[in-house]
Amino acid sequence: MRTDILHIGAGELTYEIRNIVNVGMKLQALGVRVNWENIGDPVAKGEKIPSWMKDIVAEAVQKDETYGYSPTKGILATRQFIADETNALGGVQIDPEDIIFFNGLGDAISKIFGFLKRTARVIVPTPSYTTHSSAEAAHAGDRPVTYILDPNHNWYPDLEDIENHIKFNPAVAGILIINPDNPTGAVYPEQILRAIVKIAEKNDLFIICDEVYQNMVYNGTKSVPMATIIGDKVPTICMRGVSKEMPWPGSRCGWIEVYNGHDDPMFEKYINSILNAKMVEVCSTTLPQLVLPEIKSHPEYGNYLNERIRRYEKYSNLAYDILKDVKGVLVNRTNGAFYMSAAFEYGLLNDNQTLPIENDEVRTTVEGMVSGPDISPDKRFVYYLLGSTGVCVVPLSSFATNLQGFRITLLERDEKEFIKIFKTIAAAIESYLASA
Ligand SMILES: Cc1ncc(COP(=O)(O)O)c(C=O)c1O
Repeated sequence: MRTDILHIGAGELTYEIRNIVNVGMKLQALGVRVNWENIGDPVAKGEKIPSWMKDIVAEAVQKDETYGYSPTKGILATRQFIADETNALGGVQIDPEDIIFFNGLGDAISKIFGFLKRTARVIVPTPSYTTHSSAEAAHAGDRPVTYILDPNHNWYPDLEDIENHIKFNPAVAGILIINPDNPTGAVYPEQILRAIVKIAEKNDLFIICDEVYQNMVYNGTKSVPMATIIGDKVPTICMRGVSKEMPWPGSRCGWIEVYNGHDDPMFEKYINSILNAKMVEVCSTTLPQLVLPEIKSHPEYGNYLNERIRRYEKYSNLAYDILKDVKGVLVNRTNGAFYMSAAFEYGLLNDNQTLPIENDEVRTTVEGMVSGPDISPDKRFVYYLLGSTGVCVVPLSSFATNLQGFRITLLERDEKEFIKIFKTIAAAIESYLASA
């Protein structure tokens, strides 16, 4: 190329949750029976969509209006429905103009970070859901600025770490909170959320709060919507969607709710630039917006969601009970969303550890893959686990963290299979750590 065509942030865009699929497919072609525990798609893991939900969608498909564009911000009646839901929580009050629909939160995330001034940073959690951390890093063309989620304290945010980063890095303009969290499955207590709001207020920062798992909590925890505690000062973008809850990830439908969006002229302009970016694109997909109010207010919706939540609760405890006593890894009980992260104790992994792989071709392939220079110790473990047992998880270090470990989902529906997978992992960890 006669001119450098690479964006400054091109190297920051990685998504190991899907990259690992290529590795799994390669090994699958060699005869490995793969258990896909890497991706947070309940439908891919066999979740049955109830017939009443399909009927609502089928009816919408028969109407011509379903095939048209929607307004740029989204269908007004749907935005009104969402605003009413948020206002009923009794906290901040919004109207439909404070809501913008996107083609999934992935679309919202890339615009929100993409239209932030390059030198302005949003501090993100570590570990972090990669779409956020990669998009933020790509916008700045630099490594993400992170605050610690502490594995020794239920993966809660380390408030002192947040304060210190803000104090010593004047470029920080905003704080990202993901609650309930991916990849840790943590649900944050109200006092921690209130403390973060206070830090934002004190330092004149805005908040981005990803609440896509807001209605999926269990084990006696309560999720506190940002709308109920934000007050009337801190400008905030709250993200919600249908991918996980309905679940309908293939609809590509999510939205932002803007709280306290009109007091700070610069923040107001920023939100407008995000809206204009959506306008240039015209709008987001119409079908999921059209059916959203009817699905969410269907008399069976609550029962259906509750039944899934009770399963995640049961499975979170099964998983925790199997992994909690395995020497060398640290786990916390998952209380929300459907992920669990396990972190190896510092310094336990090395380049000589292996797992037995009977099939010569599979073993040679794994050995080839782990011999590269950029293979992190946990990626090495994950590849051996895949080759040896067929269990496909995601290396924790790919979630913008130096911690070594892995993330696994709780989505396998078959209880016997679920227990088998977790026992297989527990045995593999012991064998891997003992191998060298
Ligand atoms: C915390 C979080 N936010 C956003 C998303 C993306 O959601 P969407 O399907 O709406 O793009 C995910 C998907 O896994 C997620 O875990």
